Amino acid sequence: MKASLICRVIVFSFCSVFLCSCTREKVTPIDEQCNTTISFSNEVMPIIQANCVGCHNQNGASGGYDFSTYDAIAGNANALLGSVKANGFQLMPIGGPALPDSTIQKISCWISQGKQDN
Ligand code: HEC
Repeated sequence: MKASLICRVIVFSFCSVFLCSCTREKVTPIDEQCNTTISFSNEVMPIIQANCVGCHNQNGASGGYDFSTYDAIAGNANALLGSVKANGFQLMPIGGPALPDSTIQKISCWISQGKQDN
């Protein structure tokens, strides 16, 4: 009896550790409260460069939006966030898929933290 109980505890612990480590690897945590200060140059700009600037730059501002500089991004932040959330704007990147939730949350936090040029 006792041995089988211990055995179950060991198996249960092993499974918990295994499952926890799996979810931790796959899901990027979403900072709902915006506790972490987002850096414009290290986080926001690389996201926009990788996903938007190809079509939204000084030479070809698709839809009238140029997202290649801090001023342009900060000045059009509501349209930018609206488009990645497909909220009041056409979904961007155009044709989808939408950016991951954790990426969208970073942009959202950067805006609520005052759109710092940091
Ligand atoms: C492959 C090219 C392409 C990429 C990549 C792209 N866009 Fe666009 N975007 C367009 C085009 C084309 C339009 C104009 C669409 C239209 O007028 O129907 C547009 C329009 C917009 C608009 C105006 C939408 C509206 O409803 O008024 C916003 C805001 C926008 N893009 C933001 C972004 C953001 C932010 C990203 C990156 C996450 C992005 N776009 C990525 C091509 C692109």
